[in-house]
Amino acid sequence: MKLWGGRFTQELNQLALEYTASIGFDHRLFPFDVEGSMAHARMLARVGILTREEADQLISGLSGLKADYEAGRLSFSIDDEDVHMNVERLLHERVGVVAGKLHTARSRNDQVALDMHLFVKQAIALVEEAVRDLQGALVETAQRNIDVIVPGYTHLQRAQPILFSHHLLAYFWMLERDKGRLLDAMKRADWMPLGAGALAGTTFPIDRDFVREQLGFAALYENSLDAVSDRDYVIEFVSALSTLMMHLSRLSEEIILWSSEEFGWVELADAYCTGSSMMPQKKNPDVAEVVRGKTGRVYGHLMGLLTILKGLPLAYNKDLQEDKEGVFDAVDTVLPALRLFAGMIRTLSMKRERLSHAFDHDFSNATDLADYLAAKGLPFRDAHAVVGRLVLEAITRGTNLAGLSLDLYKSVNPLFEEDIYTKLEPAHVVEARQARGGTASSAVAVQLELAKQRLAGT
Ligand code: ARG
Repeated sequence: MKLWGGRFTQELNQLALEYTASIGFDHRLFPFDVEGSMAHARMLARVGILTREEADQLISGLSGLKADYEAGRLSFSIDDEDVHMNVERLLHERVGVVAGKLHTARSRNDQVALDMHLFVKQAIALVEEAVRDLQGALVETAQRNIDVIVPGYTHLQRAQPILFSHHLLAYFWMLERDKGRLLDAMKRADWMPLGAGALAGTTFPIDRDFVREQLGFAALYENSLDAVSDRDYVIEFVSALSTLMMHLSRLSEEIILWSSEEFGWVELADAYCTGSSMMPQKKNPDVAEVVRGKTGRVYGHLMGLLTILKGLPLAYNKDLQEDKEGVFDAVDTVLPALRLFAGMIRTLSMKRERLSHAFDHDFSNATDLADYLAAKGLPFRDAHAVVGRLVLEAITRGTNLAGLSLDLYKSVNPLFEEDIYTKLEPAHVVEARQARGGTASSAVAVQLELAKQRLAGT
């Protein structure tokens, strides 16, 4: 007999049952469902709807179920559709008829809303912690390689030399904003929906604020229709996860490039790479590739959620049951990605010898030559043209800017002096960019210090 079977004369069609049941995935809400029910039972006793004994029976029954669940001894049945009715049935088997009193002043609609809020709040905290650890890995690796200079790019064409640390720390700040988005989503996940009933509230004299406090929520939903229909906080969370994955995907792309023979910047630890079944020499950056690929599924879940909500009339509709698998999968995709990245970043090593020759044949110091003339009073636009001609000249001669003679420089513009050769050195080019936020080691040291302070929460 179904818990709602009173007004029915026919059994539910088997395929209809299987298609509409959610226990196959919402069993994951079990711990939150039990936590919410315990708070609800305490509240019912507090306002006198249940006796103290009844509430105690319910609460000890629920904690028994919890222990069985944790020991893997609980089995759910599809006949009970979802986690909420499974818990009620199991509770009934354990404590008898008093189990039927737990659902007083409550509907599955506000119950599932509560469970989802509790799930999302916990997930935000877990993701935030994993983001923080990845930021720690970036800071450590930046610190360890503070002296390594790499080419910086625009359009994936050589632009200006930069510190590798500066490049890594760019991701620190992206992740810092990701944490901001997560904490912002937390503000709305922190609203407590229980007490909304099915949609209109309840005839019982409940104490919603007591439940809110018991469960550690910051605020109450002030409208029962809104409380049972709202999934904005799930969308906000998956949206924050999508942006976070986008950042990991960009870093993935870079790691894949950096570890290629063509770039030759980094060596990834073997632990984060795989080989080829055919080509014995291969070492592939699979983790980065899979994270780049899985970014698509997180975006897909965001689009799925937005589409589920679009056009739904108030209040609860069963469509809302479709909110779960996407957010579960998004969390299960993002959390391991963050943990893997922290390990992969911590264990990468730089190919210093190879990088020391990275600038032997390039022109990424050309801006500094133009700046040199501009600093001596030539309008920058004219300096740009002068250096452009020198670059062309060097290319024709098969050399770089440092390979041109001082006589040639002087013949092009008399402002050039012997000191240009120092200014053309990659280290000099990097160290010249001392303005705040720039790549000079002094500026990066300031940045590193600020990053560490953020991590320490000061
Ligand atoms: N399994 C349902 C869900 O996840 C729970 C709420 C069901 N409410 C209802 N009136 N059928 O949305």
